[in-house]
Amino acid sequence: MTALAIETRGLRKQFGSKVAVADLTLTVRPGEVFGFLGPNGAGKTTSMKMLLGLVRPTAGHARVLGAPVGDTQARARMGFLPEHFLLGLVDLRDAAGRKLRDYSKGMLQRIGLAQALLNAPALVFLDEPTSGLDPLGRLLVRDIIGRLRAQGTAVFLNSHLLSEVEVTCDRVAFVKHGYVVREMALAEQGAEVEVELKLGSVAPALLAQLGQFGRAVHQQDGVVRLRTDGEARLPEIARWLVGQGVEVYHLGASKPSLEALFLDVMGGDERPG
Ligand SMILES: Nc1ncnc2c1ncn2[C@@H]1O[C@H](COP(=O)(O)OP(=O)(O)O)[C@@H](O)[C@H]1O
Ligand SMILES: [Mg+2]
Repeated sequence: MTALAIETRGLRKQFGSKVAVADLTLTVRPGEVFGFLGPNGAGKTTSMKMLLGLVRPTAGHARVLGAPVGDTQARARMGFLPEHFLLGLVDLRDAAGRKLRDYSKGMLQRIGLAQALLNAPALVFLDEPTSGLDPLGRLLVRDIIGRLRAQGTAVFLNSHLLSEVEVTCDRVAFVKHGYVVREMALAEQGAEVEVELKLGSVAPALLAQLGQFGRAVHQQDGVVRLRTDGEARLPEIARWLVGQGVEVYHLGASKPSLEALFLDVMGGDERPG
């Protein structure tokens, strides 16, 4: 049986009194494209550096490719693209056709990196790979992730760019103030559903009871919305409302955008604590 790509328990990093990562517990399966999503200062880069053995954890455990962090054999099967690095990959296009000896040292590093990414590693870490890139650069990143996925490489992707994560990731974790506040699959199955209801007059107490079917119940302009864990909840909700004597004018369901989920999970407070 293949080992998990990443497995952490209670991973923590403190810089002096500053808690960068509070308590990171997560798993990434082999071949999975995993999005680690959160605002600036949430602890994404520090988490990634702990997994790469570049930052020593204050507490907790981590195994990467079935080996303890820092294991050289496991490390040889990984690729790492640090923040602000991919711009170089785009530059390589302009440099195509030049002889290798004409490249600058920095350019050679980038070529090495590109090779590391495409040499079928078991696991690749990408830290904000599209930040600061133009649309062509973003497409290139998407293409690289697609190729990694196709060759069975697991990808751990740090990002605050929701649309990127939405199209490329199998699963995401939302991280805030060094904690994973939510983890979910982006596949159709098991994905969240936003339910929209138009009802006859409803007492507030009854409205609150809708909470038994999901979360984030709210009412605006005569429309009630709530989040449930799947479509199977819809008939239950309909039955319950009718049973309570409520008139149901409309019951609809849609998949919330990742952006809506992000705001829901992060709340208005996106500042690091
Ligand atoms: N070497 C360091 N010394 C002190 N504080 C740090 C250090 N590295 C990161 N931090 C702090 O830890 C928190 C998390 O940082 P980071 O992991 O870079 O977050 P992200 O990548 O999500 O933006 C931030 O508040 C940051 O200022
Ligand atoms: Mg970062």
